[in-house]
Amino acid sequence: MKNQEAKILIVDDEAIARYAMRKALESMGVEIREAPDGEVALKEIQIYQPDVVLCDINMPKLNGLELLKLLRTMELKRDIPPFIVVVTAYGSEKIAVEAMKAGAFDYLSKPYDIDELRLLVKKILDQIALKRENIALKNQVAQQKGGTIIGSSAAIQKVLRLIDKVAPTDVTVLITGESGTGKELVAHTIHQASHRADGPYVTMNCAAIPKDLVESELFGHEKGAFTGATDRRLGKFELAHNGTLFLDEIADMSLDTQAKILRVLEQKSFTRLGGKDMIRADVRLISATNKDLAKEIERGAFRQDLYYRLKVLELELPPLNKRREDIPLLAQHYLHLFAQRHQKSMHHISSRAMRLLANYHWPGNVRQLIHVIEQSIVLAEGEKLDLDDLPLDIQRTEPADVVETKEDYAFGEKSFTELKDQVVHDFEKKMIKKALLKSNGNVSQAARLLKMKRQFLQAKMKSLGIERMFFINFSNK
Ligand SMILES: Nc1ncnc2c1ncn2[C@@H]1O[C@H](COP(=O)(O)OP(=O)(O)OP(=O)(O)O)[C@@H](O)[C@H]1O
Ligand SMILES: [Mg+2]
Repeated sequence: MKNQEAKILIVDDEAIARYAMRKALESMGVEIREAPDGEVALKEIQIYQPDVVLCDINMPKLNGLELLKLLRTMELKRDIPPFIVVVTAYGSEKIAVEAMKAGAFDYLSKPYDIDELRLLVKKILDQIALKRENIALKNQVAQQKGGTIIGSSAAIQKVLRLIDKVAPTDVTVLITGESGTGKELVAHTIHQASHRADGPYVTMNCAAIPKDLVESELFGHEKGAFTGATDRRLGKFELAHNGTLFLDEIADMSLDTQAKILRVLEQKSFTRLGGKDMIRADVRLISATNKDLAKEIERGAFRQDLYYRLKVLELELPPLNKRREDIPLLAQHYLHLFAQRHQKSMHHISSRAMRLLANYHWPGNVRQLIHVIEQSIVLAEGEKLDLDDLPLDIQRTEPADVVETKEDYAFGEKSFTELKDQVVHDFEKKMIKKALLKSNGNVSQAARLLKMKRQFLQAKMKSLGIERMFFINFSNK
């Protein structure tokens, strides 16, 4: 970790002791804050989020040991918790040991040697750097696992060819397509196939961030730039230096922000909010939207000049129902994935079920298909995913199959009683599903249709693994 990024908190009730320590550390270039007692320190640890806390033991209000013990019981929402070093009076080794037991990383006895202090801080910063690298590596591996583009359709094959061509360049790419068609997946794939793959991949969803925070998110801010800006913060452009910045849902950006982004793209530099320094960032920009930008331009909601800047290359992802031959491949791929994840031995999809999947219109595109497969797999049993296992709003598209008998009952290994139980089981499942389909997932209403007590129906649904959720027709709402 670079010293400039390190945040250090000095906790001591004596101002002169804090001053001395600050002087000793300042030359290292680290950022320093002070707290005069344990209570203030506790607040600072939560808000300022220091990497290292240098803490005196004897203090009014909350003393060092109490602070340590308190910290252990708290859940600090951080990947790497702060390293705490206690500073004890000469000859109080016993307390130092107690502090280490309570979670301190190390101790320093007064009077300490300045070089010894600096060395200790340096050692801690190196450890933090290593931990951060590990976490980043793990994230990278996790992301790489999730990211293969599946599909044999001409449309997807063309997308794959374009990715190959465009990835090694720094060309700005605009990805369009309905929700759930794979825009984010494509953006990430471009980054990974580019020479920036080792650099950061930073994403920003323009729709998810409150309007007046978008600029500070993008460009960062200096301490005091606005009320609430208690610290300097780096923006996404700066964080994406030497890497890729993925701007998602760009149609939701205000015209103001659009103008600023355009300027950054032209000048290749910007200033943090409330700052004067021009900052250069070498960033490859990929953007995405599920809206029709031409229409947005027409109604004055999107800048034409920015549009041309962003769409140097435009990749259009067609909706899933326009490339149906990809459905079996995707279904099979995600079946394996979820079977593994949920520890099921299910690895096949019956041809009837596959036919249904391939014919469904998939308004939510690939994302919806993935959810359907996962839902089905969680509830289904056996080795083959069949019609009955699919959510009913999918089954609804071919109502005939809902009443059709599942299989013919032939002589074989099963006894008469077993076969009869099977028939009853199938019959129960079918009737209950039919009733729920009719009632749109309303259990009381379904019970009335079946002339059955509601509690009894609920128990049956539970034992048969029938989920009410599947029968609610959300499109009516
Ligand atoms: N061709 C594909 N092969 C494999 N997985 C895919 C494919 N297309 C999409 N997916 C998966 O589908 C899910 C949805 O894709 P993604 O998040 O990229 O969609 P999106 O277009 O960004 O949607 P939105 O506009 O709603 O943000 C992801 O889990 C993604 O990995
Ligand atoms: Mg997306």
